[in-house]
Amino acid sequence: MIHGPTRLEGSVPTATAKNAVLPILAACLLTEEPCIIRDVPLLEDVRTMAKLLRSLGVAVELRKHTMRISAAGNIERTATYDIVRKMRASYYVLGPLLGRFGDARVSLPGGCAIGPRPVDLHLKGIAALGAEVNLEHGYIHATGRPLRGGTMLLEGASGPSVGATANTMMAAVLADGETVIEAAACEPEVVDLAGFLTAMGAKIEGHGTPVVRIRGVKRLHGADYRPIPDRIEAGTLAVAAAITRGNLEITGCEPEHMVSVVDRLRQSGATVEAGKRRLVVSAERRPAPVTLATAPYPGFPTDLQAQFTALLSFGHGTSVVTENVFEARFLHALELNRMGAKIDINGRTAVIQGMEYLSGAQVMASDLRASAALVLAGIAARGETEVQRIYHLDRGYESLEQKLGALGAKIERVSY
Ligand code: EPZ
Repeated sequence: MIHGPTRLEGSVPTATAKNAVLPILAACLLTEEPCIIRDVPLLEDVRTMAKLLRSLGVAVELRKHTMRISAAGNIERTATYDIVRKMRASYYVLGPLLGRFGDARVSLPGGCAIGPRPVDLHLKGIAALGAEVNLEHGYIHATGRPLRGGTMLLEGASGPSVGATANTMMAAVLADGETVIEAAACEPEVVDLAGFLTAMGAKIEGHGTPVVRIRGVKRLHGADYRPIPDRIEAGTLAVAAAITRGNLEITGCEPEHMVSVVDRLRQSGATVEAGKRRLVVSAERRPAPVTLATAPYPGFPTDLQAQFTALLSFGHGTSVVTENVFEARFLHALELNRMGAKIDINGRTAVIQGMEYLSGAQVMASDLRASAALVLAGIAARGETEVQRIYHLDRGYESLEQKLGALGAKIERVSY
């Protein structure tokens, strides 16, 4: 329940990146030695990944924000439908299980609220390493021992794939010989995974560029690692400052990972000061109209499209937002319209006619970033907003209502 409008002000820390932590946790399967992952965010998706690893026989201990993972002993090779259907990132166990044991069975994920999300590129990647891939009873069964290095182009209709690049890297680090991934994803989370694999003894070059080269090694060892800050959480908080015409210092973030986001915030008229591991974002007026199109990194992230759509709903003029990564990722727009926004969706494009104000309403979250957008809109709108299905929010934001509450938002989690 949110009561608006309020202006947010103060200083807020950034959590560690969910989308860096998830593949890194899966990568711990690549060694029988223990790994320590620090500053792990306490999120539902992280709990799901821990549950998946435990179901494979991995020892996972969590103390405060530090996770100790040991994949010694007998490790199962099957990721069941029950877990994969809850979280697509479960797919990240495919590469490491195959790489280390030459055998992995992973349930095919089902539908997804943000549109079709095929796994063909993941399969193309491991097939290029010599794996045999079969679909049986709803499961992908991949086998191949030893895997051998190969060259592949991992480009889909919407460009490179974060997940397929990460999975293929994890399968290739223990393969015989050299692997070359062309059209690799350049996202900071992929670079961070390469950093962790390198800390385990892997030989990787070119991460962060479209051509990644991996020289297979015989074995990997344990590592102690702190993943990168969450650029999407920091971006969400930056939008919170702009949408409430407030003033926020966002600490512990990495502005270098947020260049396109900072650029669009400035276009909207917000003042953004980017320093070392910090951003200061403030706004005084309604946002100016912005034209933006989501794209693979370093382009504008699809994971901030919903939050910007909420911001531009308060704009002074007409904005155009094009979603190029996930074609059906606009369900939040229909909910924002219930709050008085004027958003027309035409295929992949949203035309947003800015309104002076939105009014609180009961709205329904459809996915993680959509729920964040609705919460932000609720803080800036007049009156009461009730955001339902906030379990989506808990998948990717740790206690967001507490963070926003500490900055002045009138927000409360209500259990029914
Ligand atoms: C990752 O998903 C993130 N998830 C997503 O964050 C993020 O939106 C996405 O990357 C894009 O940045 C995690 O890191 C856990 P992709 P991923 O493979 O890896 C197509 C969030 O809210 N594609 O880069 O699944 C795909 O359909 C989530 O935190 C294929 O065609 O995304 C899409 O159009 C949501 N075939 C495009 O590639 C494939 O085999 C990019 O998807 C795989 C993907």
